[in-house]
Amino acid sequence: MSVEDDRLLAPDEADHDFDAALRPKWLGEFVGQDRVKEQLALLIQGAREREEPLDHLLFSGPPGLGKTTLAGIVANEMGVGMRQTSGPALERTADLAAILTNLEDGNVLFIDEIHRMPRAVEEVLYPALEDYKLDVVIGKGPSARTIRLDLPRYTLVGATTRLGLITLPLRERFGFTPRLDYYDEGELAMVVRRSAGILEVEVDGEGAEEIARRSRGTPRIANRLLRRVRDYAQVRSDGRVTLEAAADALALFEVDERGLDRLDLAILSALVERFDGGPVGLSTLSAAVGEETGTIEEVYEPYLLQIGFLQRTPRGRVATEAAYRHLGTAPDGRLV
Ligand SMILES: Nc1ncnc2c1ncn2[C@@H]1O[C@H](COP(=O)(O)OP(=O)(O)O)[C@@H](O)[C@H]1O
Ligand SMILES: [Mg+2]
Repeated sequence: MSVEDDRLLAPDEADHDFDAALRPKWLGEFVGQDRVKEQLALLIQGAREREEPLDHLLFSGPPGLGKTTLAGIVANEMGVGMRQTSGPALERTADLAAILTNLEDGNVLFIDEIHRMPRAVEEVLYPALEDYKLDVVIGKGPSARTIRLDLPRYTLVGATTRLGLITLPLRERFGFTPRLDYYDEGELAMVVRRSAGILEVEVDGEGAEEIARRSRGTPRIANRLLRRVRDYAQVRSDGRVTLEAAADALALFEVDERGLDRLDLAILSALVERFDGGPVGLSTLSAAVGEETGTIEEVYEPYLLQIGFLQRTPRGRVATEAAYRHLGTAPDGRLV
């Protein structure tokens, strides 16, 4: 296993099969996000009763909170097929045109990381979203002309970790743009129990709660930690996921009591020890810990902000008192 695979916050591909097995297929199985579920259920029922395609949807929020899962659920609940692509895969306008013209009536088209779609491709999408039309340029130079093709009626579901990078014209063309929030510990414990059931792992209440506490509010991480604890429990004890097994296993894998991993702690200690608590610019911080700015900004920072360990100020990132306490020091350098 490479270092990359071993990372707590490794990208989706690292546990693709595992993710697929545990992915809820219906709204009723999807834990938490109650408001979003209720809103979606209403939209879906409305569209079904009118026998129309669902409005275009844009899901935003940090990685691992269920955006891809919800896209699949929407297609299932609508009883339609889903085609899937991603912003970076749509390099040329022709790539998008090929996908759009191959859709069937009612289909869901899921575009992951939609904020990474090139601008020229995005512009093709505007009429395709609004009027189900595709503008195709035929010929070159002065004799070039545009023809308008009819597209099947479909639903675009976009997902993004960076809502701020979605242009206004694109954003305005979505009918509903729910944002997914971090899950609370009770919800994550439910995710753990559900997954344990599917994996046929025996887990007790305290074991599930311990995993939940260390999952950074994120179902994908809860599932990933469950898998680590399962291995540990199987090899070192009787296979049952208890409080003790969870705590020991996660200590071994360097996931601390708040779910922070090595890089989170590296970010916080760099801030505290090398930059006196900040403010420090993102690129300086990224150089100090040896991780890309994008990864820090999209994956690490949101949770550190959420738990109040980090603040973003106009002059840079600042460590809070809670962060100092977590590292066992006070802002004036005393040990606490
Ligand atoms: N609300 C949820 N209930 C149960 N499992 C979930 C939920 N949200 C996410 N998961 C699990 O977490 C994994 C990651 O979810 P995913 O939809 O891929 O996240 P995202 O697309 O937002 O990065 C999925 O395999 C799924 O099993
Ligand atoms: Mg996803």
